[in-house]
Amino acid sequence: MQSKRPSLRAQTPPHAKTPNQTRSRLSQLMMPEHANMLGTVHGGVLMKLVDEAAAICAMRHAQSTCVTLGVDSMTFRSAVNVGQVVQLDARVTFVGRTSMEIGVHVVAEDPIQGAVTHTNSAFLVFVAVDPDGAPVEVPPLILESEEDKAYFAEGAARQLARKKRQQ
Ligand SMILES: CC(C)(COP(=O)(O)OP(=O)(O)OC[C@H]1O[C@@H](n2cnc3c(N)ncnc32)[C@H](O)[C@@H]1OP(=O)(O)O)[C@@H](O)C(=O)NCCC(=O)NCCS
Repeated sequence: MQSKRPSLRAQTPPHAKTPNQTRSRLSQLMMPEHANMLGTVHGGVLMKLVDEAAAICAMRHAQSTCVTLGVDSMTFRSAVNVGQVVQLDARVTFVGRTSMEIGVHVVAEDPIQGAVTHTNSAFLVFVAVDPDGAPVEVPPLILESEEDKAYFAEGAARQLARKKRQQ
């Protein structure tokens, strides 16, 4: 019988990709079960969606299981209401040897009026791992546009700062 578990590693060797090839976009309608006591969307719901959108990107790039190593600070610039659609746009911004930085941009859309508000953005670091949870190499990132190159340079600087903070 075939296993129903998703594969942990691709059957073909992971290959270099552009950020566009692995970009992930998620949309979710906010319902009453997502609300906090004020009736607006709970921050934890948004954090989970950010982690999921970023994880999809990381797995697409690494062609491997990935774990979240950390999330840079997340500031909610405006509240999200029940009835709005949260849209997440995640892209690989930087890759190291086994780690990847993913940037996620989140907006809330009023699907009836069409208004769109930026709610928060975050950078997350993921590490590609083997079935035993040990870090494995990720493929290079192909930098096509000036925007890709700028994100990569900024991501490299942020990664250096994270490591310095850890020391
Ligand atoms: C992520 C994990 C596999 C890393 O293991 P490790 O033994 O510390 O691995 P390493 O020291 O080789 O570091 C792995 C990568 O993370 C990077 N890293 C380590 N500490 C870091 C930090 N504070 N900030 C940013 N990157 C860091 C390393 O530079 C390395 O990247 P590189 O290969 O691109 O240079 C391990 O810490 C772990 O399993 N953590 C738990 C993850 C988890 O449960 N997440 C929540 C659920 S998904």
